[in-house]
Amino acid sequence: MTAPKSVTAYSGLDVLTHSLEALVSKGANTITDALAEKGIDVITHDLVDCYKHGDDVEKRQTVHEISCGAGMAFTNAGLGFCHAMAHQLGANFHVPHGLACAMLLPHVVAYNAKHSDLALHKYAAAIRKAGLASHGLSDRLTIQRLLSRIRQMMIQMDCPQTLRAFGVDVKDAEAKTQVVIDDAKLDATFPGNPVIPTDDDLKAIYRKVIR
Ligand SMILES: [Fe+2]
Repeated sequence: MTAPKSVTAYSGLDVLTHSLEALVSKGANTITDALAEKGIDVITHDLVDCYKHGDDVEKRQTVHEISCGAGMAFTNAGLGFCHAMAHQLGANFHVPHGLACAMLLPHVVAYNAKHSDLALHKYAAAIRKAGLASHGLSDRLTIQRLLSRIRQMMIQMDCPQTLRAFGVDVKDAEAKTQVVIDDAKLDATFPGNPVIPTDDDLKAIYRKVIR
């Protein structure tokens, strides 16, 4: 509770990433789905309050519990290429892990929803259960609600959304493109993704995170 506020923001957004990646990963099952869906619900509703009011013990406890729950989900179901790329942003530019995940997360969710019908439906069902979209809304518009919510949370918690905003030199980031892509593909979390992106897909997402 006395840690810097950024620790709450970044580690909480990491929990959201664990939830969204575990939900659609290849190893997902009904038990990990339940934990992942609860993670999406709790983090999208309570994390910003924990950030703004660090002494709110009740919300802190709820977020702390689901941090463990989402951990149980992903250690059983696996993750995906958001984590595979986030690890490279940490290794090359020292971006804190949860922040690196959060920078990539909207792009990876949009990519998975576009390329995997199962991912699209599972994200949409979870977002509706969390009350972020009405049941009459199409799956694709429902995903947009989540992407807006992630970006809104990052603004509310003072999170830079690109490497440039974090302070990384754009030229340095561009020069590392190939090593980021190559190492992301070797990351243990990469094969869990519901669809395997091409190098060009990875480059396009990396480019969006640079500036
Ligand atoms: Fe993580």
